Amino acid sequence: MSTTSLTTQDQLVAPAGFTPILDGQLFEHAERLRDKVVIITGAANGIGKETGVRCASYGAKLVIGDLDLVGAEKTVSEIIASGGQAVAVKCDVTIWDDQVKMFELAIEKFGSVDVVVPNAGIGEPGNFLEVKLDNKTGKPQKPNLSTVQVNLIGVLYTVHLAQHYLLVDLRKVDTPTQPLKAMILIGSMASWDGFPVAPIYSASKHAVLGLMRSMEPSLLLKGIRIACITPFFADTGIIPTPLKVFLAGCPLTPVPRIAGAIIYAASHPDPAKSGSGYVLPDDGPVFEVPKEKFKMGVYKLLDDRLKSVEGIVYAVRLTKDVVKLVAKPLVVTVIGLGLARAFWSNRDILPSFMDI
Ligand SMILES: NC(=O)c1ccc[n+]([C@@H]2O[C@H](COP(=O)([O-])OP(=O)(O)OC[C@H]3O[C@@H](n4cnc5c(N)ncnc54)[C@H](O)[C@@H]3O)[C@@H](O)[C@H]2O)c1
Repeated sequence: MSTTSLTTQDQLVAPAGFTPILDGQLFEHAERLRDKVVIITGAANGIGKETGVRCASYGAKLVIGDLDLVGAEKTVSEIIASGGQAVAVKCDVTIWDDQVKMFELAIEKFGSVDVVVPNAGIGEPGNFLEVKLDNKTGKPQKPNLSTVQVNLIGVLYTVHLAQHYLLVDLRKVDTPTQPLKAMILIGSMASWDGFPVAPIYSASKHAVLGLMRSMEPSLLLKGIRIACITPFFADTGIIPTPLKVFLAGCPLTPVPRIAGAIIYAASHPDPAKSGSGYVLPDDGPVFEVPKEKFKMGVYKLLDDRLKSVEGIVYAVRLTKDVVKLVAKPLVVTVIGLGLARAFWSNRDILPSFMDI
């Protein structure tokens, strides 16, 4: 993995409340991915491909859905050539049925879904800031919103389906493995800050971060962890040439480090880390932003209230589970005691065993 010189804790000055995660830590729980089924959209190229290949190197089984089937099959061949398991399907993330097919393929081929990374994304075609008038009518033309279709609607479809399929498990496992269920969303530094030349891209990435934060409490109750990885520019096909020229000399975020952050967020065993953002603001280390960091003022108050509701929901679920577990033996015991009592109180009128 390409690294920067920032490799020791002493050299780092983390923004207040942010925790640096060094390169050496990114893969420390990656062994937990062994035999897990990982779905990544957009893994024919760039960040998705790097993440898929690395997950497979730790023993994960990959399902890749991409519009670029040729590229997706190349990723699959690379994984298989290194002794891994993977399968690809043509999938346009903006088409619901394509996404259902991708999840169904995972179940059919590998029996479960354990980690989902809705990574497919595009930049921003057109110029939202320029209002074009129709030649004939002189009225404003509809803007191109394909960025919202792929980066937001596509992600919403994946996340919605993941809520169902992460709980389906048809594997016949002799030795049960440690459960690991995760959704890792891909934001951007444009999730936190505006991006003046691409406002729709920035809006879509702000939305992805908001989606992660909003879903975290209910997913936690289902045992599913969620996080959002927010990198600065990285050298992939999503960056158009003029932007690459503009960025010349800027320290870009290394793609392997982004993949490392995705794997760290997916494989970390501590449930308290669910809901974190992971910021990669340049070519330096990954910073973890804990979910509490942005809970200020009235948000903190609402969050505390939500936590008490969560506590009640948890208690109700726990009671239901306990009742499910003990109900049958309890009924059998009560019936048994009832019969014994009836037998005992009527022992005089029942024929003596000795008489039979
Ligand atoms: N590269 C960066 O600078 C950068 C920075 C921050 C966040 N990101 C995010 O990382 C993610 C991956 O981007 P990347 O940099 O690897 O770009 P990339 O162009 O290398 O890869 C994107 C992949 O998504 C696929 N894709 C595009 N539209 C699709 C659709 N409708 N259905 C299915 N697949 C589709 C492409 O075929 C491609 O394989 C994106 O969500 C992007 O917004 C990238």
